[in-house]
Amino acid sequence: MPGLVLVGAQWGDEGKGKVTDLLAERADVVVRFQGGNNAGHTIVRDGQTWKLHLMPSGILHQGTLCVIGNGVVVDPKVLTDELEELRRRRVDTSGLRISANAHLIMPYHLMLDHAGEARLGKLQIGTTRRGIGPCYADKAARLGIRVQDLLDEKILKKKIVTALEPKRLSLRPFAKDPRLDLQAMTDEYLTYGHRLEAYIADTSRLVLDRLDHDQLVVFEGAQGALLDIDHGTYPFVTSSNPVAGAACIGAGVGPKDIDEVWGVAKAYSTRVGAGPFPTELEGPLADEIRDRGHEYGTTTGRARRVGWLDLVALRYAARINSLTALALTKLDVLSGLPQLHVCTRYRSEEGAELDHFPYHQTVLHHAIGEYEVLPGFSEDLSDCRTEEDLPPAAREYLRFVAAFVRVPIALVGVGPGRDEVIWTRAGAGLAVAGAVPPAPARV
Ligand code: IMP
Repeated sequence: MPGLVLVGAQWGDEGKGKVTDLLAERADVVVRFQGGNNAGHTIVRDGQTWKLHLMPSGILHQGTLCVIGNGVVVDPKVLTDELEELRRRRVDTSGLRISANAHLIMPYHLMLDHAGEARLGKLQIGTTRRGIGPCYADKAARLGIRVQDLLDEKILKKKIVTALEPKRLSLRPFAKDPRLDLQAMTDEYLTYGHRLEAYIADTSRLVLDRLDHDQLVVFEGAQGALLDIDHGTYPFVTSSNPVAGAACIGAGVGPKDIDEVWGVAKAYSTRVGAGPFPTELEGPLADEIRDRGHEYGTTTGRARRVGWLDLVALRYAARINSLTALALTKLDVLSGLPQLHVCTRYRSEEGAELDHFPYHQTVLHHAIGEYEVLPGFSEDLSDCRTEEDLPPAAREYLRFVAAFVRVPIALVGVGPGRDEVIWTRAGAGLAVAGAVPPAPARV
């Protein structure tokens, strides 16, 4: 029963969509287990670009069961729009299943997200303003409205009234907003219910049955370890757990159902939103990397902050996720830089050397990266398909990263296209049965 969890090992936007898309080719099931439409995957396939927010990446593969698990927060407007767009582009969406227990993002969650950020002013988190935090807050407060509630008008209305009651004060700036009209909101959500009804299911059971039948299930994480509400740079984090452990909770499977955990990391670092970023670069070098890597948010269009690869943070992510393999994406973006810096420790404000990711926010906020300088490479990597095709400096970069983090690299991204990847020998030796394609034959 191979279960493979794929998570972001940095601050999100590591290129998980492309890796999941590749694995989805061989997977029977792809499950999203946390987050919502704060995520954004860009997949380039057959010359077409797909931007997905809520939909599991496997949706582009006919025959793959695509599950939105109970741990996801679902904005039904976004989901129905995404479904519509996929159908318009002639993608078969019949393999989608949505957990009846997933929580719904309501109009007031979006308003509260906006109001919360406005209230924080200069201290704001820089959320995607998609209502993610307020929705998870209602879930924990047991005021949430779930996908299954869409199927019962009476319950839906009652729950909306109860959920709205304690928010009156915070929603005062939106008092006259027609989206807060109880009947209009109920009607709108019932319409979503009709549109989504055929997809609503007991997804935990579906996934467990597939695992029982020895099928390959890929659990697709959103965001990344350093945005984890427990293990990330709190409070500059998202409101869910993007770490691998959450796959069990958010999909409804047990820890023993997970065989492998792959972490996706870029060959450098990026972050959107506020919060500590010890290897952050500014100036022309940052602009160059940002432009070459097209580092602008899929969801919000915001320019991403850019920095050198942070191996202290990556090793931390490897440990809290029990990573069995790494997928290192966008190595091609570093081509042409004369030297490559990789952060191997931090220096605290008091001058202390920090070999581990500091648990205290004040220490982390003032930590400065210290670097090992590796030789750069200038070749175009886009045609490389095996490790041997890579220039020696690029191979050395990979060797250094894998040795430092103590996790083998299974896959390397050398361009945006889905075929612009190298599956390494380490990956082929490690992967769950059938997940990794055979090495390409060389002529
Ligand atoms: P929220 O998830 O919208 O509440 O935003 C909280 C923090 O997580 C902000 O810094 C966002 O920029 C960040 N964030 C949320 N989703 C993503 C993502 O998919 N990629 C990168 N950053 C994200």
